[in-house]
Amino acid sequence: MEETSARRLLEFIVLLSCSGNSVLPVRLTVSPSRSQFFEYESVTLICEDENSSDGWTVRRNTTRGTRKRCGDGWGKSAGSTCNMPYILPLDSGLYWCESMSGSSSSSSSSIQLSVSGGSVILQSPVLPVMEGDDVTLSCRAKSPAHNLPAAFYKDGSFIGDGPSGHMTLLHVSSSDEGLYKCSISGQGESPSSRISVEGRITSTPSPSSICPTSTQSPPIMLLFLSSSAAVVFLHLLVLLDLDLTRSSLDPAEEPLHVSSTQR
Ligand SMILES: *[C@@H]1O[C@H](CO)[C@@H](O)[C@H](O)[C@H]1NC(C)=O
Repeated sequence: MEETSARRLLEFIVLLSCSGNSVLPVRLTVSPSRSQFFEYESVTLICEDENSSDGWTVRRNTTRGTRKRCGDGWGKSAGSTCNMPYILPLDSGLYWCESMSGSSSSSSSSIQLSVSGGSVILQSPVLPVMEGDDVTLSCRAKSPAHNLPAAFYKDGSFIGDGPSGHMTLLHVSSSDEGLYKCSISGQGESPSSRISVEGRITSTPSPSSICPTSTQSPPIMLLFLSSSAAVVFLHLLVLLDLDLTRSSLDPAEEPLHVSSTQR
């Protein structure tokens, strides 16, 4: 019995750490969904959380300050949303969501927003793209609004022309990750933006191989893990209760019991 409850406790801890690992993270989304903007464009940042819509604040690192909260000198905060009615080159920087509870703060991964004071921007996906997907890059001039021929660059090297201002990366893989920019003759060059590629099969292994692997359906896995954790927890409570009842009837057993369940 003692051995069983100790094992249950261990299983419970393993499950907790596993489920903590596969919790769907909060993420920051941008509307319009791109990472480059012309100055004076209006931009909305939203913290998307599967579990709740409140308790998240958008923060940013720019040349004008680090970890600045939306509403603190920039943007208009409304719940987990942050509005920037007119964005400026000085607003370029890293943006992320952070939970408001100070003691145990958690945050989303950050995204880089670039605001061009010039007349060319690259429209590229702001969130990581899925391995195998096709990704279209668009080079846009402020004016004229119609598409112009553009040249595209990756990590500083020319990768191709887009006669109508577009270029498609077919079946992207990790080798397509990098800093992209474009230029339009007679108009200028865009800022650079990073494109990240997310593997379909998670390439980062779980901290422990005991954790069940879940890559295709995190929500189902999460459900499974939390219900298993709950069941194990209930078992544990019942076992502890039985042990305690027994211990109080038979005091001689108590020291052994304490040492085995508290590790
Ligand atoms: C923001 O800047 C601070 C101070 O330089 C740094 O510690 C922190 O990691 C930055 N945050 C992000 C998301 O890069």
